[in-house]
Amino acid sequence: MLISLFFRCRLLNKQKQAGFLAMVLMLFLSLASGLAQSLETPQDGLAIGRQLLAEDNPGDLWTERGKRLFHSNRGPKNKSLETCDLGLGPGITKGAFAQLPRYFNDTKSVQDLESRLLTCMVEIQGFARAELISRRFGTLDQDSDIEALVAFIGSDSNNLPMNIGLSHPLERVMYETGKILFYRRSGPLDFACMTCHGETGKRVRLQDLPNMTKKEEIQQAVTTGWPAYRGTHSTVRTMQHRLSDCNWQMRLPDLNYASDLSVAITTFLNYSANGGLIKLPGVRR
Ligand code: HEC
Repeated sequence: MLISLFFRCRLLNKQKQAGFLAMVLMLFLSLASGLAQSLETPQDGLAIGRQLLAEDNPGDLWTERGKRLFHSNRGPKNKSLETCDLGLGPGITKGAFAQLPRYFNDTKSVQDLESRLLTCMVEIQGFARAELISRRFGTLDQDSDIEALVAFIGSDSNNLPMNIGLSHPLERVMYETGKILFYRRSGPLDFACMTCHGETGKRVRLQDLPNMTKKEEIQQAVTTGWPAYRGTHSTVRTMQHRLSDCNWQMRLPDLNYASDLSVAITTFLNYSANGGLIKLPGVRR
C-alpha cells in the first residue's frame, strides 16, 4: 500500500506532494502511537482476552450445575436446598446475592453467600461442616459443589443493582470492621488492602489492580467479578477464594473460610459497590 501511495505521490505537483506526504506521515504516526499505547498498557491485551472468554463464558457450565445441585435431593437427609433462606424467603434465589451479606435471625449473625450456604447444607441436607469446608475450593480431580452453587445463586441476581442495606446494627458493625481491615496495615509486610487497591493504574506484574476507593472500579470488581471463571485455575472461584488469595499475598495468617473476618471484608466491599449492576459469573485471569 505504501509503495502505491509513493508512486501516486510522484504524479502530484510539489505542493500537493508535500501535503500528501504530511498526511501519510500523520497517519503513520497516529497508528504507531496507538500501537505503542496498546503495548504500554497491559489492560488492553488482557481486556481483549477477557472479552473473548466472556463471550463464551465457561463459568456458565458451573451455573447450570449449581442450579441442578440446588434443586436436587442430596446429603444424608436427602433434601434439596429449596427451603434454604438466603434472605428473601425459603428457596428464593432471584435477587438474593444482591443483598448479601446480611443479618440472619436463625444464626444471629451476618452471613455472606458462602457462609449462608454452609448453614443450609449442614442444617437442611445434613452434610458435615468440616467435610464441606475441606471441599470448598475445587481441584482438577474434584469439583466443588459450593463453587457451582455460588455461580448459580450469584448469576440469579444478574441485571439487578447491588443493594446492601446495613439496616441491622450487626450489619453496620461488620461494615465498619471491614472498612478498618481494608485500610489498616498489618502483618510482616505491613500491607493493607489499600496498599495494592488504593490507587488507579497500579499493577502487580501484568495484573491491573482495581482502585477500590473508586466507586466504578469497586463496582466492577464486585458486581462483575466474583464468582468468576478463573482461566488460570480452570474453574469458578468465589469471593472467599479471592480474599484468601489476597490475604496470602499480604502474608497474613490464613483467612478462615466463611469466618466473621472474611464476611466483614465482603460486607464492606459489597456495600461500597452498591448500585453496580450484577453480571456474574465474571471472567478473570
Ligand atoms: C500485594 C498486593 C495486594 C494486596 C495487599 C491485596 N490485593 Fe487484592 N488483588 C491483588 C491482585 C494481584 C489481584 C488480582 C488482579 C488480577 O489478577 O487481575 C487482586 C484482586 C482482588 C479482587 C478482585 C478484583 C477483580 O476485579 O477481580 C478483590 C475483590 C481484592 N483483590 C480484594 C482485596 C482485599 C479486600 C484486600 C485486603 C484484605 C486485598 N485485595 C489486598 C493484589 C493485592
